[in-house]
Amino acid sequence: MSSGISVGIITVSDRASAGEYEDYGGPALRQACQDYEWQVEAEAIIPDDLEKIQRTIRAFSSQGCGLVLTTGGTGIAHRDVTPEAIRGIMRLEIPGFGESMRMQSLEITPNAILSRSLAAIVDASLVIALPGKPSGAVECLGFVLGAIPHSVKLAQGVPTSC
Ligand code: MTE
Repeated sequence: MSSGISVGIITVSDRASAGEYEDYGGPALRQACQDYEWQVEAEAIIPDDLEKIQRTIRAFSSQGCGLVLTTGGTGIAHRDVTPEAIRGIMRLEIPGFGESMRMQSLEITPNAILSRSLAAIVDASLVIALPGKPSGAVECLGFVLGAIPHSVKLAQGVPTSC
């Protein structure tokens, strides 16, 4: 659909990073990105650790990923810190992404209200925090798809018109 976007994908999960179960969220997002004709340049599976989340986002941004997708840790479990990690390093949040993802997801499951999913600008990247369930992550990405190319260009300081 929209080409030319370099993407980094981060699975945030204590259990997947420890190898206790297989990561399905990262591969589901990779497939979705390929379907959109984006280039997946970097992937990582990391625990629900605030500083590791921040370091990985910044590393992917500095290696040129205009779009960084995280999956997991957006909920209300004790270890869920993905939103706090992003808010700790962002220049600004773009509230419409989270609002839109939750509103549209609520038509699929009442539990969507538990996700604190969000988007923010970190360094020169658009960062979108998606829920951990693979189908939920892909659904949410699809809900905000239309705004991504323009947002990535603005994040990178590329001149662009609406
Ligand atoms: N959004 C969509 N579109 N589809 C889903 O299946 N799952 C919800 C929610 N958002 C879901 C969704 C559930 S069950 C939870 S607990 C929250 O996302 C938070 O998930 P996370 O903590 O794994 O990020």
